[in-house]
Amino acid sequence: MEIRWLGHAAFELKHDGVTVLIDPFITHNPAATVSADSLEADAILLTHGHQDHLGDTIDIAKRTGATVQAITEVAGEIGAEGVEVIDTNIGGTASYAWGSVRLTPAWHTGTTPKGTVHTPAGLVIEMGGVVIYDTGDTALFSDLALPGRRKPIDIAIIPIGGHYTMDREDAVVAAGLIGAPVVIPQHYDTFPPIATDVQAFKSEVEAAGSARVEVLEVNGTYTA
Ligand code: NI
Ligand code: MN
Repeated sequence: MEIRWLGHAAFELKHDGVTVLIDPFITHNPAATVSADSLEADAILLTHGHQDHLGDTIDIAKRTGATVQAITEVAGEIGAEGVEVIDTNIGGTASYAWGSVRLTPAWHTGTTPKGTVHTPAGLVIEMGGVVIYDTGDTALFSDLALPGRRKPIDIAIIPIGGHYTMDREDAVVAAGLIGAPVVIPQHYDTFPPIATDVQAFKSEVEAAGSARVEVLEVNGTYTA
């Protein structure tokens, strides 16, 4: 499967002709280099409904017919726009023809631009035999270790930018807790408050022996 970073917390997963988007914040994303209109999707997964994650979700879902999976309250708001939604809550798993997606706890806050208050989530995604844990926006907390106890995580996608989430030093600890052999950093350098030194993050994680860090360029792809 292929994982393409679209900038910030937006990713595209492709396997066997299926395309899944995570947190497709594209149009107002200063880091994005693609246009939202160019993206295809069979499913869109949201960690939470902050604007830098909800982004272009409704437009892309309406154009492509993609199903949107989000936490109950956000799914309710999006569903009212006429988009097909899956309204899992924390701990819940949705099954797809191509795999599954479970929502996990994340330590963050959540209100959509329209005012829907909700609990943010992480995502455990199984696709093409690969287990990906996108922690979503979160602080460092010990339960990041739990998803990997059920089934080992192959790839962890974690925020490192600080200010709104854990910073790169806490993210080094998080990488150790999650225990995935590969870590892809996200949610950094998009805006001035979340500028960080991604190469320092990479060296510290790799020096600790926790994981190999794959630093993607925006629009760059990692093949798992
Ligand atoms: Ni957020
Ligand atoms: Mn965010």
